[in-house]
Amino acid sequence: PSMFEGLQLPSTFDAHVHLRSGEMMETVVGTIRDGGADMVYVMPNLVPPITTIEMALDYQSKLKALEPNVTFLMSLFLCPALTPDMIIEARKAGIKGVKSYPAGVTTNSATGVLDYKSFYPVIAEIQKQGLVLNLHGECPSSSRDEITVLNAEEAFLPTLGMLHRDFPDLRIVLEHCTTEKAIEAVKSYGPTVVGTITAHHLSLTVDDWAGESFNYCKPVAKTPRDRIALLKAAASGSPKFFFGSDSAPHSIQAKQGSLNPPAKQAAGIYTQPFCTQLVLDAFEQGCQDGLLNEDQLTHKVLSGFLGEHGRLFYHQPMSNRQIILGAREIVQIPDLIAVDNRTVAIAPFRRGQRTRSLGWL
Ligand code: NCD
Ligand code: DOR
Ligand code: ZN
Ligand code: ZN
Repeated sequence: PSMFEGLQLPSTFDAHVHLRSGEMMETVVGTIRDGGADMVYVMPNLVPPITTIEMALDYQSKLKALEPNVTFLMSLFLCPALTPDMIIEARKAGIKGVKSYPAGVTTNSATGVLDYKSFYPVIAEIQKQGLVLNLHGECPSSSRDEITVLNAEEAFLPTLGMLHRDFPDLRIVLEHCTTEKAIEAVKSYGPTVVGTITAHHLSLTVDDWAGESFNYCKPVAKTPRDRIALLKAAASGSPKFFFGSDSAPHSIQAKQGSLNPPAKQAAGIYTQPFCTQLVLDAFEQGCQDGLLNEDQLTHKVLSGFLGEHGRLFYHQPMSNRQIILGAREIVQIPDLIAVDNRTVAIAPFRRGQRTRSLGWL
């Protein structure tokens, strides 16, 4: 049989999802279980961003109403309006963390962080209350500082080090690691610092998004050597690394940009309906390419990366539901996923290609 055919795993915890709002939300939420997940950590970069406890709870109840069989872990958007008292209230309300976006680096991040020091009173309370700080780890591009999308993550790593030094007990997630240097940085710190890895960064490099906006996301996919470091970290069994898809749906129009009015192509790759399948495809390809050993991809390593490491870090119960995977290349990924009224459509990652099947036991 082909690799992973008939494999049973605990349901996936997807520790980084963009579920949007309105019709886009209705479509996307309906595809979470297709990708094998029944617990997700929800990003707050809506328009407007989720900056109050009330907004987060209101959003959570909408998500739950759409899909009662998924657990939605909620986050707040780090901004100057967030106070230490709100962090205390957030913990009481069951909100799990706070996501920081450096100003201007990605979708809906214009009101993000310019200087971490000014947020130290709030960050101290995040640590004290035992919430998680989720970092979008990129510095804004700057010609003065020689920062571009290619080294924006590396340039951010000293800030990660500073935050960990100043808040050693703070649980920090370096989201969507894309470089060998980020992996090494996360490894070099204690158990309070972890990293998420997406499905798409396990297979993409620079050449895949240069000229192909549907493979364009932030942080951008980096070099072949970086991709190999991600594959190895994901397959290492280390509890410091776990899966967060960063599935980020945009309409095909937004992905293609616009001549008039001028608009850049939106960053974000939609992987939600096939996210577990895509991770396993990347592992299988990694074995075929001689980058990973089949022997190292034990049930413990796979279930650790796809759920258990993340559930442990977020203090969540282990999964009590199982999924079953089929052989590679038996399901066709659609070209488009239509949003309810069919005026909007999303093009999923690897559209038109084949992947494995996934069922719920
Ligand atoms: C300085 C610090 O922590 O005070 N950073 C550092 O030494 N790495 C300055 C800063 O806040 O960036
Ligand atoms: O590619 C991305 N898209 N990266 C992010 O950090 C945000 C996301 C989005 O919201 O579209
Ligand atoms: Zn991010
Ligand atoms: Zn994201």
